[in-house]
Amino acid sequence: MQVKIEKKSILDVSADVIIVNLFEGVKTPAGVTGIVNKAYKNLISEYVIKKEKFEGKYGEIYQLPLPISGKKLFIAGLGKQKEFTPVKIRDLTAKIVRICNKAGNIKKAVSILHGAGIAGLCPQLCAQMITEGAISGTYAFNKYKSDKNENSLKEFVIAEIDNEKYKKAKIGVETGIITANALNSARDLINESSQYLYPETLAQYAVENSGVKTTVYNKAQIKKMGMNAFLAVGQGSIHEPKFIHMEYKPEKKAKRKIAIIGKGITFDAGGLDLKPPTSMLTMRDDMSGAAAVICTMRAISELKPDVEVHAIVAACENMPSGSAYKPGDVIIAKTGRSIEIDNTDAEGRVTLADALAYAEELKPDEIIDIATLTGACMVALGTVSSGIMGNNDKKIKDFIKTAEIAGERFWQLPMYEEYGDTLKSDIADTKNTGGRMGGASSAGVFLSKFITKNTPWIHLDIAGTAFLDTANSEGIKGATGIGVRSLIKYITE
Ligand code: BES
Ligand code: MN
Ligand code: ZN
Repeated sequence: MQVKIEKKSILDVSADVIIVNLFEGVKTPAGVTGIVNKAYKNLISEYVIKKEKFEGKYGEIYQLPLPISGKKLFIAGLGKQKEFTPVKIRDLTAKIVRICNKAGNIKKAVSILHGAGIAGLCPQLCAQMITEGAISGTYAFNKYKSDKNENSLKEFVIAEIDNEKYKKAKIGVETGIITANALNSARDLINESSQYLYPETLAQYAVENSGVKTTVYNKAQIKKMGMNAFLAVGQGSIHEPKFIHMEYKPEKKAKRKIAIIGKGITFDAGGLDLKPPTSMLTMRDDMSGAAAVICTMRAISELKPDVEVHAIVAACENMPSGSAYKPGDVIIAKTGRSIEIDNTDAEGRVTLADALAYAEELKPDEIIDIATLTGACMVALGTVSSGIMGNNDKKIKDFIKTAEIAGERFWQLPMYEEYGDTLKSDIADTKNTGGRMGGASSAGVFLSKFITKNTPWIHLDIAGTAFLDTANSEGIKGATGIGVRSLIKYITE
């Protein structure tokens, strides 16, 4: 799918579909919709609104065949003007693009710049949302299907004649293309079968696709670096663990330095504390955090912010076998802190313990980890919102706000010290888990113990939002690529 913007009237772009819009309750179309209405002899106001009673409710799309030309006019309902948001533009565009593809014979569409008219939203953000909706809203993982069901829609043009709006929107389209491509790549990586995607191939992917300097450490090197906790989790697998470090340095002096860490369990069987079948079924998604940071780096390499960014993935597979780590084992993590393994299925935090320690040695201004960490977070927030915790309230608030604009939801969960009480061990400094209650928060407290130099740190728990059984508002099933949009926006702004 190619998205572009042209400095033309919508009527001067030849396309199979013309997309305009209406807010709820509008009887006399204004702006570009008004111009199209006039050009087609009041077809919208007289026929669609008066006769057909189209109300402009959010998400309603009226499809009107145009006389003679064989073209179609889509009128998209934007809902109540007061309730309109840029994210709605994204989801609406995704819906429209899916309708176009279903029709089968629509190759090119031209659209109004939704939101930048009477709604008065920022043209750059509106254009970015349309672009993301068009490119990522039609995503499907059909690599292993014989019938590829190719999308018919190949070209999506945004028409904007106003010079100022056009200039801003152009930047939005460019950012949108980079962001949506990163997002779709993350989805591809997560959806990929764990038969083919294991630590070595994930590392290979990062080397070839992150767009930045990428160093991969093997088992012997990981051992030398003292990352015994990470190694313990991976020791039951036939696949060697890999530690991946990606670095982006701006040409100008960096304004700040950020480290992002993605949980990279390429398959989580639970280890000797084996998961039941239904829980294990989608556990190839347990590297969603890793996919998010790798693909974010790709976008960073293209958007080139004045920020130094380090992305880190401790990639391994959590399997049961004769060589697997065992309940009751004590492991000395990189920081020197000893961990008693209470449950081998609480493996993500054990790998992150060492990744956090490694990240802190790079002396970043802040660290963000993103992980499909706890079923408890999924129980608390469902698939609707991800969890967020950390040691710095201001940064957490900033992140939530940025993420919301990027179209992703994060809800802060508490990290009171008492959540750590259940982690007390008789034989080590900590256990890796202590029961089901408040599981997302106790996992957060566990991680916090491996930040030893007080570096500001944010923890994102995406267990509930990374992989969906039923389509979300954007129409996406399976891997969502959650985190990519927020991380890109948070780093680049
Ligand atoms: N990868 C899982 C968490 C998860 C659950 C992700 C559901 C996506 C969907 C994690 O490694 C895990 O198994 N956590 C355990 C921890 C427990 C043993 C304390 C859990 O949440 O059940
Ligand atoms: Mn697990
Ligand atoms: Zn896991």
